[in-house]
Amino acid sequence: NTIIVLNGPNLNLLGTREPAVYGSQTLADVEDLCRTAAAAEGLGVRFVQSNHEGALIDAIHAARGTAVGIVFNPGAYTHTSIALADAVSGVELPVIEVHISNVHKREAFRHHSYISPVAAAVIVGAGTNGYRLAIQHLASITRD
Ligand code: DQA
Repeated sequence: NTIIVLNGPNLNLLGTREPAVYGSQTLADVEDLCRTAAAAEGLGVRFVQSNHEGALIDAIHAARGTAVGIVFNPGAYTHTSIALADAVSGVELPVIEVHISNVHKREAFRHHSYISPVAAAVIVGAGTNGYRLAIQHLASITRD
């Protein structure tokens, strides 16, 4: 059983990018915590980051038939991308949307998400621990 942990634009800069907002953990640290959390649930992880909308769409399509669900931090595409929302709808897999920061106490343009209406759950503002919570929730809803 495999899950995809998918990170969108600028998340490759985690740890050095606006640490006051996103913390000091790097994307490699996030990958480690995801692998640990998933292993504890008996799940494997395919960890993908891209700065390109189309590559994220391809990764979502590739999850179909090869993964049980997706943990997805779409970065700023959260607030702009109908195409990513359509991709999530199209694959019919549970998607847990994660935002490291609490987008609701930030700029108004971060308050709307195109992904949330098609997500199984949304975890916002829990820092990188949000990935762990998302994996635990995905495990609980996909367990047979
Ligand atoms: C983010 C929040 C988005 O508004 C922002 O564009 C990001 C990161 C988060 O994890 O808090 O790139 O998704």
